[in-house]
Amino acid sequence: MEITPPSIEASSSFPNHIAIIMDGNGRWAKQRGLPRFKGHTAGVESARGVIRYLNDKYHLKYLTFYGFSTENWSRPKTEVFGILRLFERIMNAEARQLHQEGVRIHHLGRLEELPRGLQRVINRALKLTADNTGMTLSFAFNYGGRTEILDAVRNIIAKGIPAQQIDETLFNSYLYTADLPDVDLLIRTGGELRISNFLIWQSAYSEYYFSDVLWPDFNEAEIEKALLAYRQRQRRFGGL
Ligand code: IPE
Ligand code: IPE
Ligand code: MG
Repeated sequence: MEITPPSIEASSSFPNHIAIIMDGNGRWAKQRGLPRFKGHTAGVESARGVIRYLNDKYHLKYLTFYGFSTENWSRPKTEVFGILRLFERIMNAEARQLHQEGVRIHHLGRLEELPRGLQRVINRALKLTADNTGMTLSFAFNYGGRTEILDAVRNIIAKGIPAQQIDETLFNSYLYTADLPDVDLLIRTGGELRISNFLIWQSAYSEYYFSDVLWPDFNEAEIEKALLAYRQRQRRFGGL
């Protein structure tokens, strides 16, 4: 496949912020007669590959992953705690390497509702990488778009901000994504055509790319397909 040369700066043909709904881990495992958890561990490898590829080859500025939604608590306890433990283990093992690569790690969601140990590991990774100037890598973990909006409204009210001061810029600054730009390209793997409560404010003008490929099979060639689709879009933002 012909590959466009790396684009360091954001341009209309290359996204500045890519967000990914990593879906299909369970089905991937089921197809192989494996327990669902094996799908999640395979999904981690996929995420690792995608991060490396977009960082090394394209120097992407912002990459955001949907790892665990506020709705995912409704899954069986064993799966929920399996995912939480897996995320803790990976964050613990990978933070240093990401730091060496200049990556800034960011968390989106209600941190305080996560187990203490996981909170500690996340906080440590945030602190370690806070001053890095490379890719901003965000993990939406215990994240819900509606919860995020409600948290913002509560904080705005708690601060006593007068109604007439509330505009889009101010509201944006109260979201978990306050220091992230809007999403340019939103990818969902796993074949479902829905947003599942992900970045509903920030993706108002995103380009959507849906793939039938299950997340553990989403590789470099699949990213290239998504980037190619993006290049072929014409973004108008309501203009002509
Ligand atoms: C996505 O894969 C990962 C999480 C939601 C944590 P799923 O676990 O939803 O996999 P499917 O959709 O059941 O195949
Ligand atoms: C979306 O996947 C959440 C994550 C990828 C973390 P789900 O599998 O939870 O979404 P639904 O339930 O199919 O909408
Ligand atoms: Mg799913």
